[in-house]
Amino acid sequence: MNIVKVKDYQEMSAWASKQVIDKIKSSDQPVLGLATGSTPEGLYQDLIEAYKNHQVSFKNVTTFNLDEYVGLAADDPNSYNYFMNDKLFNHVDIDPSHTHLPNGVATDLEQECKDYEALIKNTGQIDLQILGIGINGHIGFNEPGSSFSDRTQIVKLVDSTIEANSRFFAHKEDVPTHAVTMGIKTIMESKEIILLASGESKAKAIKQLIEGEVTEDFPASILQQHPNATIVIDNAAASLLNA
Ligand code: F6R
Repeated sequence: MNIVKVKDYQEMSAWASKQVIDKIKSSDQPVLGLATGSTPEGLYQDLIEAYKNHQVSFKNVTTFNLDEYVGLAADDPNSYNYFMNDKLFNHVDIDPSHTHLPNGVATDLEQECKDYEALIKNTGQIDLQILGIGINGHIGFNEPGSSFSDRTQIVKLVDSTIEANSRFFAHKEDVPTHAVTMGIKTIMESKEIILLASGESKAKAIKQLIEGEVTEDFPASILQQHPNATIVIDNAAASLLNA
């Protein structure tokens, strides 16, 4: 695992944006894995800025997002489909048919998971997967105790995740209890992974990710075994590290 230390959220976003742009330019048909949440918002703003300044085009880019809430349709403002359109896709020249997220309101969710997994496989490997990290070490919505061999699946969100994500909803009770998420095995098959973390609230998780053991009780720890994973952390997120 490579560790990149930056000053703050802004630097983290700029660093990640440069990597994404380089990746897009290095391939005829780049495939990106994307995340939602607060962490990558600055990255997406920087990418929109770069697109507007004619520094990058998304015409040939294909994307796969990590996850979606069960029960939220794509036009629901709290859905991850909506988030991605609002924060990135609507502002760049990406072909909407090349952007993929699980369908949280599919009538047969088990089949939806299989179809999503097959779609990733048929597109080829994800060239670059962007990740955030939950305070409990989740990546995607793979909560502690998830198997490292999991594929795209339906998961039950733990209370701390529901609590953390309730900031986006009017009431905590409105946060869906389940999600569809790419599995850890699917994530680990990406050619390259960049995990971003900013702020004091992530410091404990980052310490465990970098200094702790590899265990299914802390899903992100598997990244220690990925051949090309980079952890990008700002000063606050790095504040509990030994070195
Ligand atoms: C989002 C996702 C989650 C988040 C994590 C951190 O698609 O997969 O794993 O990356 O919950 O969320 P933020 O960035 O809001 O702290």
